[in-house]
This record gives sequence, C-alpha cells and structure tokens, in this order.
Amino acid sequence: MAQVLITGGAGFIGSHTCLVLLQAGHRLVVLDSFVTSNPASLRRVLELAGGVASERLTVIEGDLRQPSSLDRAFSAMAGRCDAVIHFAGLKAVAQSVHQPLLYWDVNVGGSTQLLSAMARNGCHTLVFSSSATVYGFPETIPIQETAPVLPINPYGHTKAAVERMLADLATSETHWRIARLRYFNPVGAHPSGQIGENPLGPPDNLFPYVSQVAVGRIARLQIYGDDWPTADGTGIRDYIHVMDLAEGHLAALEVLWNEQPQLLTLNLGSGIGHSVLEVVRAFEAASGRTVPYGVAPRRAGDAARSVADPSEAERRLGWRTRRDLETMCLDGWAWQSSHPDGFSSQASNP
Ligand SMILES: NC(=O)c1ccc[n+]([C@@H]2O[C@H](COP(=O)([O-])OP(=O)(O)OC[C@H]3O[C@@H](n4cnc5c(N)ncnc54)[C@H](O)[C@@H]3O)[C@@H](O)[C@H]2O)c1
Repeated sequence: MAQVLITGGAGFIGSHTCLVLLQAGHRLVVLDSFVTSNPASLRRVLELAGGVASERLTVIEGDLRQPSSLDRAFSAMAGRCDAVIHFAGLKAVAQSVHQPLLYWDVNVGGSTQLLSAMARNGCHTLVFSSSATVYGFPETIPIQETAPVLPINPYGHTKAAVERMLADLATSETHWRIARLRYFNPVGAHPSGQIGENPLGPPDNLFPYVSQVAVGRIARLQIYGDDWPTADGTGIRDYIHVMDLAEGHLAALEVLWNEQPQLLTLNLGSGIGHSVLEVVRAFEAASGRTVPYGVAPRRAGDAARSVADPSEAERRLGWRTRRDLETMCLDGWAWQSSHPDGFSSQASNP
C-alpha cells in the first residue's frame, strides 16, 4: 500500500483516479479547493470503493498556492509520501484568454509551490496532468510525443511552462521520477453514473455540451464549421474514456516506482479520431434522445484534426485504452441522465 497525494482529486479526472487507486489498495490524501468541483464527488468515490475505503482517504480543503495548505496535506501523510498526482488547475481555454494571470498563478505558481513542498517533504515522484493542447497546430497526425511543443493559448502556455519546469528539475536533480501525461479529450464517466464531469457554467468542450443538450439543459449544440477537410466536414478529435485515463495514471505510478528515476512524457489517447457528427450520432444512439444542432463558422484556434499516437504509452506502461465511443456515450449518459445538474442535482445528492 502506497500513500499518494492527489491535488485536485475531487475534480472530473481526479475523482475517477481516486477510485481506481483506492480499489488498487492505496491510501490517499486529496488536496482540493473545490473551486471547480464538489466534495460530493469524493463521498461518491467512497461509496463506490466500498468496504473500509473511507479509512484510506483523507480530504484536505485548501489552495495549492498556499504553502500552509500543502503543509497540512503532507502532515496528513505522517512523513511518508510515495507520490503526488497533480491534477489541480484551471483548464478552460476561453477563460485563460481573458484571465491569463489567473492561469499562470494557479497552474504555474501552484505547481512551483507543490514542487517546493514535495522537496521539503522528501517526495520526488510526480505524475503531472499535461494536455494535448501543448502541441498547438501539429504538422503530423497522429501526433507523437516528439512533435514540437507550440501551444497557441494561455492555458496551453501554462501547461508547456510546467512541463519545461519539470524537465529542468529532472535534469538538475536526477533522483526525481516524473511522468508528464498529455491527455487528449477525456470524456464519459464511471459506468455506475455516480461520478462524472460537473462543469460550472456553459461547458467548454464538445462532449459535456452534447450531453447537456441531450438532457434538455441546453437548447441546441453549435458546431463550429462543417467545411473542414474531413470526411463529413466537422472537426476530428481523439476521445479517451475517463476510466481508461484513470487506469493510465495507476500504470504510470507503477512504472515510476519500479524503474530507475526518469522523466517520462506520454500521450494518453485512444489513437482513434471521431468527428463532431459521429459523436452526436453516437450520443443520440446511447441516450435515445435527439441532439439538435446548428452550424456556425469555424472558430479561430481550432484545428481540423487532432489524434494521438498512443504507441509510446503502450510500450512504456503496458497500457492502452479499452473503452470505445459507444461506451463513452453510454457511461456519460448514465451520469448526465441521473444528474442533470451535476452534483447539485437534488434527487441524487448523497
Ligand atoms: N478534462 C480535460 O479535458 C483535460 C484535458 C487535458 C488536461 N487536463 C488537465 O487535467 C487536470 C484535471 O482536469 P479535470 O478535467 O479533472 O478538471 P476539474 O476542473 O474537474 O478538476 C480540477 C480540480 O482542481 C481543483 N483546483 C483548481 N485550482 C486549485 C487550487 N488552486 N488549489 C487546489 N485545488 C484546485 C478544482 O477544485 C478541481 O477539483 C487539470 O490540470 C487539467 O488542466 C484536463
């Protein structure tokens, strides 16, 4: 049993990863400010983990940027932190364009504070949530990890900056074990429908948008461009089921623990591209609902196609995605239909 600090563990990807790690027998301390999440997610995680899992989860409410919060989190581990998984951060591209300083403060400043606290507490194993956004407009599809890091918005700049900071650290202090995981588009939910994505305000991404239209919370979907150079004219993305992603984190931790200190950089994606219209059709089939949509002009900053080459993750972690688009839609709908307003849905609160 390892002790792992999970920053941002109440969020979408964090809550699913907490469940996978609890089920693998680990002890967790979650540090979260709940700025974009709800503590109910962790109560649900405990219900799903069952048994005596509650004895292996400690939740600390606090802000990553405050050393006192980090000290409380490390104190809760009584001197032994075997690894940190660092999810905490802000992720809305459009918001980052309007509030770049906030994004640099939380995503980069928060990460600097975390790394200092890890060093103070003798913990040198870290899994960091990076993003396919760091690739900007990639020249070659599928995208390999060796592609240039050329982000095109403030959110992507902050992810690339933390990646750079981690590379500098790994070069100067060679005992660090670090994985920089570049996620493609995490979607879906735990198949129970008890935890899932809980966006505050209008969703930024296609999948929660489609699912909120299906449930009747938003009137119709806006598709940005049907004249892209793709088979049906809509943009193509690589979607990854959040449970596959969560399992990828466990696989990365095990490799970091079992191998020599290293800096790993891996794409976590399915390697399969789906167009916007394919997602709409698959979601309609899974939900039995119609998803009305309109077409608007292309948005600046969007690309026609973004698909991972996940072969390096498979080679290094022995991990690959197992759940297809239909499963992503069925599980996403199980969550959305039972929680039309996310964790604030009255009927479903624990
Ligand atoms: N979901 C995606 O599409 C996606 C894609 C690529 C990368 N990522 C990255 O993965 C990570 C997790 O994303 P998610 O989708 O679970 O987002 P999320 O918003 O659901 O979770 C983020 C969590 O971090 C917490 N948090 C934010 N700022 C904090 C702070 N200063 N101190 C403490 N806690 C703080 C939030 O309360 C929330 O629980 C983020 O770093 C994100 O940038 C997400």
